[in-house]
Amino acid sequence: MSSHLLSVDSLSRDYVEHLMQLAGRMEPFAQRRKVTRVLEGAVLGNLFFEASTRTRISFHAAFSRLGGSVCDTTGFTFSSMAKGESLYDTSRVMGGYVDAVVLRHPDQGAVAEFAEATRVPVINGGDGPGEHPSQALLDLYTIEKEFARLGKRLEGAHFLLTGDLKHGRTVHSLIKLLSLFGPLRITLVSPPGLEMPRHLIDLVTSRGHRVEQRESLANDFGDLDVIYTTRIQKERFTDEMSETFAGISQDFIVDRAFLDQRCSPTTIVMHPLPRDSRPGANDLNVDLNGDPRLAIFRQADNGIPMRMAIFANLLQVEEYIERDAQDVRWFVPPTFGVDDRTL
Ligand code: NCD
Repeated sequence: MSSHLLSVDSLSRDYVEHLMQLAGRMEPFAQRRKVTRVLEGAVLGNLFFEASTRTRISFHAAFSRLGGSVCDTTGFTFSSMAKGESLYDTSRVMGGYVDAVVLRHPDQGAVAEFAEATRVPVINGGDGPGEHPSQALLDLYTIEKEFARLGKRLEGAHFLLTGDLKHGRTVHSLIKLLSLFGPLRITLVSPPGLEMPRHLIDLVTSRGHRVEQRESLANDFGDLDVIYTTRIQKERFTDEMSETFAGISQDFIVDRAFLDQRCSPTTIVMHPLPRDSRPGANDLNVDLNGDPRLAIFRQADNGIPMRMAIFANLLQVEEYIERDAQDVRWFVPPTFGVDDRTL
């Protein structure tokens, strides 16, 4: 195992299973019942050159909940990259200041290039339309937790991935990660022009999974276990694409009616978030809010234990996590959201 987390390509099934178990060990800390200080004295560089809420804050919170501290920078404006500094120089400099780096960058491949100049662990927090491996890991962790609750197994499960499958880095990493397990049935539905890249479909098919592409959600899908919806990534459109895609039809929206008519009470709905909740947006409908099948906030919560697990593994402190753990002393509400159900 290299000391970086750049792409799902470098992960073996055994390593992924190990991270899943490790994330499970992080639950008492993520749920705020226990405190650990295993990374006391360590410093994280959290560098985000693209918009982020969940990834940036949850990496920050995960490192802090292991007892470490965090330095961060957001956007190019306030970093020396705005003065023409290269990824190489920035990386070498950061390596002298911090013990691990999380980097999000608009260019595919930029995080791997950054990682070449430093020996401190680098985590890809999203490189343009490329990959987002920690999101895929927390997505798989969510699927495993939800399936355990529902008495389901990953083998033979049916996944629907929908939305902008061309530019969505979360689905690129997720489909690769899922392909290590199974065999699975994966149905892909995206507006024309936003299909999953061919090489990813070929990879998954070559590993023995059944992949089908459909042009709309107005179909019979049989038994779906997981619906994974994604936002249309308009910011990655070329000018020409923006004109063509001005009005994506309502046929691609997952809402309560779709779930009631085409799915079962045990189908779960995921989304890496953010979803576009503005009126008229072509994204996961808000009419599912409060429905226990909507797993999106449980999924976002899972970012903490999984990112704690990634840090503990890359910084090699796994064996010390529970040592000297203490009870939490501050007020912790019984659920984190007002709509949360105890499942
Ligand atoms: C996504 C991202 O940035 O790739 N969000 C996330 O990290 N959870 C998805 C998106 O922006 O649509």
